[in-house]
Amino acid sequence: MTNADLEKIVDTSDEWIVSRTGIKERRIAPEGMAVSDMAVEACKKAIESSGLKNEDIDLLILGTVTPDYKLPSTACVVQEKMDLPNATAFDIVAACTGFLNGLSVASALIETGAYKNALVVGAEKLSSILNYKDRNTCILFGDGAGAAVLTVSDDDSGILGTFLKSNGNLRELLWVKDGGSANPIPDGYVSEGEDKVMMSGSDIFKVAVKQMCNAAVKIIDEAGLTSEDISLVIPHQANIRIIEAIAKRLKVSMDKVFVNIEKYGNTSAASVPIALDEANRSGKIKKGDHVVMVAFGGGLIWGSALIKW
Ligand code: ACO
Repeated sequence: MTNADLEKIVDTSDEWIVSRTGIKERRIAPEGMAVSDMAVEACKKAIESSGLKNEDIDLLILGTVTPDYKLPSTACVVQEKMDLPNATAFDIVAACTGFLNGLSVASALIETGAYKNALVVGAEKLSSILNYKDRNTCILFGDGAGAAVLTVSDDDSGILGTFLKSNGNLRELLWVKDGGSANPIPDGYVSEGEDKVMMSGSDIFKVAVKQMCNAAVKIIDEAGLTSEDISLVIPHQANIRIIEAIAKRLKVSMDKVFVNIEKYGNTSAASVPIALDEANRSGKIKKGDHVVMVAFGGGLIWGSALIKW
Protein backbone atom coordinates (compact mmCIF):
# COMPACT_ATOMS: atom_id res chain seq x y z
CA MET A 1 0.00 0.00 0.00
CA THR A 2 1.63 3.24 -1.19
CA ASN A 3 1.12 6.75 0.12
CA ALA A 4 -0.83 7.42 -3.08
CA ASP A 5 -3.18 4.56 -2.14
CA LEU A 6 -3.72 6.16 1.28
CA GLU A 7 -4.43 9.55 -0.30
CA LYS A 8 -7.56 7.91 -1.76
CA ILE A 9 -8.74 6.70 1.67
CA VAL A 10 -7.95 9.53 4.14
CA ASP A 11 -7.14 13.23 3.98
CA THR A 12 -3.36 12.96 3.68
CA SER A 13 -0.56 13.42 1.15
CA ASP A 14 2.61 11.66 0.10
CA GLU A 15 4.52 14.83 1.01
CA TRP A 16 3.09 14.89 4.58
CA ILE A 17 3.74 11.20 5.20
CA VAL A 18 7.29 11.17 3.79
CA SER A 19 8.36 14.38 5.53
CA ARG A 20 6.83 13.42 8.94
CA THR A 21 7.65 9.70 8.95
CA GLY A 22 9.94 8.61 6.09
CA ILE A 23 7.40 5.99 5.02
CA LYS A 24 6.66 5.53 1.31
CA GLU A 25 4.86 2.21 1.30
CA ARG A 26 3.87 -0.64 3.57
CA ARG A 27 2.93 -4.29 3.03
CA ILE A 28 -0.68 -5.35 3.70
CA ALA A 29 -1.40 -9.06 4.08
CA PRO A 30 -4.30 -10.28 1.94
CA GLU A 31 -7.54 -11.46 3.46
CA GLY A 32 -7.15 -15.05 4.59
CA MET A 33 -3.46 -14.68 5.42
CA ALA A 34 -3.00 -14.93 9.19
CA VAL A 35 -0.06 -13.83 11.31
CA SER A 36 0.99 -17.48 11.63
CA ASP A 37 1.24 -17.76 7.82
CA MET A 38 3.66 -14.84 7.66
CA ALA A 39 5.56 -16.15 10.69
CA VAL A 40 5.96 -19.58 9.04
CA GLU A 41 7.65 -18.02 5.99
CA ALA A 42 10.07 -16.13 8.24
CA CYS A 43 10.73 -19.23 10.40
CA LYS A 44 11.51 -21.38 7.35
CA LYS A 45 14.10 -18.88 6.15
CA ALA A 46 15.64 -18.49 9.60
CA ILE A 47 15.99 -22.25 10.13
CA GLU A 48 17.38 -22.70 6.62
CA SER A 49 20.07 -20.06 7.17
CA SER A 50 20.94 -21.49 10.62
CA GLY A 51 21.78 -24.91 9.17
CA LEU A 52 19.69 -26.61 11.87
CA LYS A 53 16.79 -29.00 11.31
CA ASN A 54 13.22 -28.50 12.50
CA GLU A 55 13.69 -31.25 15.10
CA ASP A 56 16.57 -29.28 16.66
CA ILE A 57 14.32 -26.38 17.69
CA ASP A 58 13.29 -26.83 21.32
CA LEU A 59 11.91 -23.33 22.02
CA LEU A 60 9.65 -21.09 19.91
CA ILE A 61 8.79 -17.59 21.15
CA LEU A 62 6.58 -15.35 19.05
CA GLY A 63 5.98 -11.65 19.68
CA THR A 64 2.71 -10.25 18.38
CA VAL A 65 -0.20 -7.98 19.27
CA THR A 66 -2.28 -9.38 16.40
CA PRO A 67 -2.54 -13.10 17.19
CA ASP A 68 -4.42 -15.55 14.96
CA TYR A 69 -6.79 -16.33 17.85
CA LYS A 70 -7.39 -15.23 21.44
CA LEU A 71 -6.73 -18.88 22.30
CA PRO A 72 -4.37 -20.69 21.68
CA SER A 73 -1.14 -18.78 21.20
CA THR A 74 -0.03 -18.07 17.63
CA ALA A 75 3.29 -19.72 18.54
CA CYS A 76 1.43 -23.03 18.96
CA VAL A 77 -0.21 -22.56 15.54
CA VAL A 78 3.22 -21.90 14.02
CA GLN A 79 4.63 -24.97 15.77
CA GLU A 80 1.97 -27.11 14.08
CA LYS A 81 2.34 -25.48 10.65
CA MET A 82 6.14 -25.71 10.80
CA ASP A 83 6.23 -29.20 12.33
CA LEU A 84 8.54 -28.50 15.27
CA PRO A 85 7.94 -31.68 17.31
CA ASN A 86 10.48 -30.98 20.03
CA ALA A 87 9.65 -27.36 20.83
CA THR A 88 7.68 -25.65 23.54
CA ALA A 89 5.94 -22.61 22.07
CA PHE A 90 4.44 -19.45 23.55
CA ASP A 91 3.61 -15.85 22.65
CA ILE A 92 4.90 -12.61 24.09
CA VAL A 93 2.74 -9.48 24.01
CA ALA A 94 5.17 -6.58 24.05
CA ALA A 95 4.13 -4.57 20.99
CA CYS A 96 7.10 -3.23 19.05
CA THR A 97 9.66 -4.63 21.50
CA GLY A 98 8.17 -8.14 21.19
CA PHE A 99 11.18 -9.49 19.29
CA LEU A 100 13.66 -8.06 21.83
CA ASN A 101 11.63 -9.43 24.75
CA GLY A 102 11.62 -12.80 23.00
CA LEU A 103 15.34 -12.61 22.36
CA SER A 104 16.01 -11.75 25.99
CA VAL A 105 13.88 -14.63 27.33
CA ALA A 106 15.30 -17.14 24.82
CA SER A 107 18.86 -16.10 25.55
CA ALA A 108 18.31 -16.44 29.33
CA LEU A 109 16.68 -19.87 28.93
CA ILE A 110 19.53 -21.08 26.71
CA GLU A 111 22.05 -19.84 29.29
CA THR A 112 20.39 -21.98 31.98
CA GLY A 113 21.09 -25.05 29.84
CA ALA A 114 17.39 -25.96 29.71
CA TYR A 115 17.12 -25.21 25.96
CA LYS A 116 19.60 -25.33 23.09
CA ASN A 117 18.05 -23.92 19.93
CA ALA A 118 15.40 -21.21 20.02
CA LEU A 119 13.35 -19.72 17.23
CA VAL A 120 12.38 -16.12 18.04
CA VAL A 121 9.77 -14.52 15.81
CA GLY A 122 8.10 -11.14 15.51
CA ALA A 123 4.98 -11.15 13.34
CA GLU A 124 2.07 -8.76 12.91
CA LYS A 125 -1.01 -8.18 10.82
CA LEU A 126 -1.53 -4.64 12.05
CA SER A 127 -3.88 -3.92 9.14
CA SER A 128 -6.41 -6.07 11.02
CA ILE A 129 -6.50 -3.63 13.97
CA LEU A 130 -6.08 -0.31 12.14
CA ASN A 131 -8.79 2.28 11.69
CA TYR A 132 -8.59 3.27 8.04
CA LYS A 133 -10.60 6.40 8.83
CA ASP A 134 -7.93 7.69 11.23
CA ARG A 135 -5.11 9.40 9.31
CA ASN A 136 -3.10 9.75 12.54
CA THR A 137 -2.51 5.98 12.69
CA CYS A 138 -3.37 4.16 9.46
CA ILE A 139 -0.51 5.73 7.50
CA LEU A 140 2.13 4.49 9.94
CA PHE A 141 1.76 0.73 10.15
CA GLY A 142 2.21 -2.33 7.95
CA ASP A 143 2.17 -6.13 8.12
CA GLY A 144 5.16 -8.47 8.19
CA ALA A 145 7.21 -11.10 9.97
CA GLY A 146 10.84 -11.72 10.84
CA ALA A 147 12.61 -14.50 12.69
CA ALA A 148 15.98 -15.53 14.07
CA VAL A 149 17.46 -18.75 15.43
CA LEU A 150 19.48 -18.55 18.64
CA THR A 151 21.84 -21.32 19.62
CA VAL A 152 24.74 -21.92 21.99
CA SER A 153 27.89 -20.22 20.67
CA ASP A 154 31.29 -21.87 20.82
CA ASP A 155 33.31 -18.63 20.81
CA ASP A 156 32.92 -15.14 22.30
CA SER A 157 30.16 -14.18 19.86
CA GLY A 158 26.56 -13.95 21.03
CA ILE A 159 24.16 -11.77 22.94
CA LEU A 160 26.32 -9.66 25.26
CA GLY A 161 23.37 -8.10 27.03
CA THR A 162 19.71 -7.17 26.93
CA PHE A 163 17.72 -4.45 28.66
CA LEU A 164 13.94 -4.31 29.02
CA LYS A 165 11.72 -1.73 30.71
CA SER A 166 8.10 -0.62 30.66
CA ASN A 167 5.79 2.03 32.09
CA GLY A 168 2.17 0.89 32.27
CA ASN A 169 1.04 4.35 33.47
CA LEU A 170 1.37 5.47 29.85
CA ARG A 171 -0.57 2.57 28.32
CA GLU A 172 -3.38 4.76 27.01
CA LEU A 173 -1.01 6.63 24.70
CA LEU A 174 -1.17 3.65 22.34
CA TRP A 175 -3.88 1.07 22.76
CA VAL A 176 -6.92 -0.76 21.49
CA LYS A 177 -9.52 0.09 24.11
CA ASP A 178 -12.42 -2.22 23.26
CA GLY A 179 -12.59 -5.94 22.63
CA GLY A 180 -10.66 -7.40 25.56
CA SER A 181 -11.98 -8.56 28.95
CA ALA A 182 -11.90 -4.98 30.33
CA ASN A 183 -14.27 -3.69 27.65
CA PRO A 184 -15.87 -6.65 25.88
CA ILE A 185 -17.72 -5.96 22.66
CA PRO A 186 -21.45 -6.20 23.43
CA ASP A 187 -24.13 -7.35 20.96
CA GLY A 188 -24.98 -4.56 18.55
CA TYR A 189 -21.65 -2.75 19.12
CA VAL A 190 -21.07 -0.01 16.56
CA SER A 191 -17.38 0.71 16.09
CA GLU A 192 -16.29 4.30 16.47
CA GLY A 193 -12.65 3.32 16.26
CA GLU A 194 -12.16 2.29 19.89
CA ASP A 195 -11.77 -1.35 18.87
CA LYS A 196 -8.82 -0.28 16.67
CA VAL A 197 -5.40 1.25 17.35
CA MET A 198 -5.64 4.67 19.02
CA MET A 199 -2.51 6.76 19.56
CA SER A 200 -1.25 10.08 20.89
CA GLY A 201 1.55 10.40 18.34
CA SER A 202 3.40 13.46 19.57
CA ASP A 203 3.45 12.25 23.23
CA ILE A 204 4.83 8.90 22.11
CA PHE A 205 7.42 10.58 19.93
CA LYS A 206 9.05 12.32 22.91
CA VAL A 207 9.09 9.25 25.16
CA ALA A 208 10.33 7.09 22.28
CA VAL A 209 13.37 9.26 21.56
CA LYS A 210 14.30 9.58 25.24
CA GLN A 211 13.86 5.93 26.21
CA MET A 212 15.35 4.40 23.07
CA CYS A 213 18.46 6.54 23.59
CA ASN A 214 18.65 5.55 27.27
CA ALA A 215 18.21 1.88 26.39
CA ALA A 216 20.94 1.96 23.74
CA VAL A 217 23.39 3.88 25.94
CA LYS A 218 22.78 1.55 28.89
CA ILE A 219 23.48 -1.61 26.95
CA ILE A 220 26.65 -0.18 25.39
CA ASP A 221 27.91 1.16 28.77
CA GLU A 222 27.24 -2.10 30.58
CA ALA A 223 29.37 -3.98 28.05
CA GLY A 224 32.23 -1.55 28.71
CA LEU A 225 32.01 -0.21 25.15
CA THR A 226 31.44 3.22 23.61
CA SER A 227 29.33 4.16 20.61
CA GLU A 228 32.54 4.14 18.53
CA ASP A 229 32.72 0.38 19.06
CA ILE A 230 29.27 -0.12 17.52
CA SER A 231 29.29 -1.21 13.88
CA LEU A 232 25.56 -1.08 13.33
CA VAL A 233 22.46 0.17 15.14
CA ILE A 234 19.21 -1.55 14.19
CA PRO A 235 16.39 0.57 15.58
CA HIS A 236 12.68 -0.19 15.56
CA GLN A 237 11.37 1.38 12.36
CA ALA A 238 8.63 3.71 13.66
CA ASN A 239 9.59 7.10 12.26
CA ILE A 240 12.73 8.31 10.44
CA ARG A 241 12.79 11.40 12.65
CA ILE A 242 12.90 9.22 15.79
CA ILE A 243 15.70 7.16 14.22
CA GLU A 244 17.71 10.27 13.27
CA ALA A 245 17.25 11.76 16.75
CA ILE A 246 18.60 8.57 18.32
CA ALA A 247 21.61 8.50 15.97
CA LYS A 248 22.36 12.12 16.87
CA ARG A 249 22.15 11.53 20.62
CA LEU A 250 24.27 8.38 20.36
CA LYS A 251 26.76 10.31 18.20
CA VAL A 252 26.55 7.59 15.57
CA SER A 253 26.50 8.59 11.88
CA MET A 254 23.45 7.52 9.87
CA ASP A 255 25.55 5.20 7.71
CA LYS A 256 25.85 3.01 10.84
CA VAL A 257 22.09 2.94 11.33
CA PHE A 258 19.96 0.46 9.42
CA VAL A 259 16.83 1.98 7.89
CA ASN A 260 14.17 0.27 5.79
CA ILE A 261 11.13 2.19 7.04
CA GLU A 262 10.39 3.57 3.58
CA LYS A 263 9.38 0.10 2.33
CA TYR A 264 7.52 -1.35 5.31
CA GLY A 265 6.36 1.38 7.69
CA ASN A 266 6.06 0.32 11.31
CA THR A 267 5.54 -3.44 11.55
CA SER A 268 5.67 -3.49 15.38
CA ALA A 269 7.21 -6.76 16.64
CA ALA A 270 8.33 -7.67 13.11
CA SER A 271 10.26 -4.46 12.56
CA VAL A 272 13.56 -5.31 14.30
CA PRO A 273 13.89 -8.90 12.99
CA ILE A 274 13.04 -7.84 9.40
CA ALA A 275 15.70 -5.11 9.64
CA LEU A 276 18.21 -7.52 11.24
CA ASP A 277 17.65 -10.04 8.46
CA GLU A 278 17.96 -7.45 5.68
CA ALA A 279 21.13 -6.02 7.26
CA ASN A 280 22.62 -9.51 7.54
CA ARG A 281 21.67 -10.71 4.06
CA SER A 282 22.93 -7.49 2.46
CA GLY A 283 26.37 -8.01 4.03
CA LYS A 284 26.17 -5.07 6.44
CA ILE A 285 27.12 -7.24 9.43
CA LYS A 286 30.48 -9.01 9.67
CA LYS A 287 31.82 -11.56 12.12
CA GLY A 288 32.94 -9.81 15.30
CA ASP A 289 30.80 -6.70 14.74
CA HIS A 290 28.97 -5.19 17.69
CA VAL A 291 25.32 -4.67 16.75
CA VAL A 292 22.82 -2.77 18.91
CA MET A 293 19.09 -3.33 18.48
CA VAL A 294 16.69 -0.97 20.19
CA ALA A 295 12.90 -0.76 20.20
CA PHE A 296 9.93 0.99 21.72
CA GLY A 297 6.20 0.38 21.69
CA GLY A 298 2.77 0.34 23.24
CA GLY A 299 2.74 -0.46 26.94
CA LEU A 300 4.65 1.74 26.96
CA ILE A 301 7.58 -0.61 26.71
CA TRP A 302 11.14 -0.36 25.45
CA GLY A 303 14.35 -2.33 25.33
CA SER A 304 17.70 -3.01 23.70
CA ALA A 305 20.08 -5.84 22.93
CA LEU A 306 23.79 -5.90 22.14
CA ILE A 307 25.14 -8.69 19.96
CA LYS A 308 28.70 -9.61 19.09
CA TRP A 309 28.07 -11.17 15.67
N1 ACO B 1 -1.80 13.46 6.90
C1 ACO B 1 -1.92 14.79 7.01
N2 ACO B 1 -2.01 15.43 8.21
C2 ACO B 1 -1.96 14.68 9.31
C3 ACO B 1 -1.84 13.27 9.25
C4 ACO B 1 -1.76 12.67 8.01
N3 ACO B 1 -1.64 11.34 7.83
N4 ACO B 1 -1.80 12.80 10.51
C5 ACO B 1 -1.92 13.86 11.33
N5 ACO B 1 -2.02 14.99 10.61
C6 ACO B 1 -2.16 16.36 11.08
C7 ACO B 1 -2.67 16.44 12.48
O1 ACO B 1 -4.06 16.35 12.50
C8 ACO B 1 -2.17 17.80 12.90
O2 ACO B 1 -3.05 18.74 12.41
P1 ACO B 1 -3.50 19.98 13.33
O3 ACO B 1 -2.24 20.71 13.68
O4 ACO B 1 -4.43 20.74 12.45
O5 ACO B 1 -4.17 19.36 14.52
C9 ACO B 1 -0.87 17.99 12.14
O6 ACO B 1 -0.89 16.98 11.09
C10 ACO B 1 0.36 17.83 12.98
O7 ACO B 1 0.22 16.67 13.74
P2 ACO B 1 1.34 16.29 14.79
O8 ACO B 1 0.82 15.19 15.64
O9 ACO B 1 1.88 17.49 15.45
O10 ACO B 1 2.49 15.76 13.81
P3 ACO B 1 3.87 15.17 14.24
O11 ACO B 1 4.93 15.99 13.63
O12 ACO B 1 3.95 14.85 15.68
O13 ACO B 1 3.85 13.78 13.45
C11 ACO B 1 3.50 11.48 13.90
C12 ACO B 1 2.85 12.85 13.76
C13 ACO B 1 4.11 11.09 12.57
C14 ACO B 1 2.42 10.49 14.28
C15 ACO B 1 4.60 11.56 14.98
O14 ACO B 1 4.11 12.18 16.13
C16 ACO B 1 5.11 10.19 15.33
O15 ACO B 1 5.68 9.49 14.53
N6 ACO B 1 4.97 9.80 16.62
C17 ACO B 1 5.39 8.53 17.08
C18 ACO B 1 4.32 7.59 16.72
C19 ACO B 1 4.84 6.20 16.77
O16 ACO B 1 5.92 5.93 16.36
N7 ACO B 1 3.97 5.34 17.26
C20 ACO B 1 4.27 4.02 17.34
C21 ACO B 1 5.39 3.87 18.34
S1 ACO B 1 5.17 2.56 19.24
C22 ACO B 1 5.08 1.41 18.11
O17 ACO B 1 5.86 1.42 17.22
C23 ACO B 1 3.94 0.44 18.19
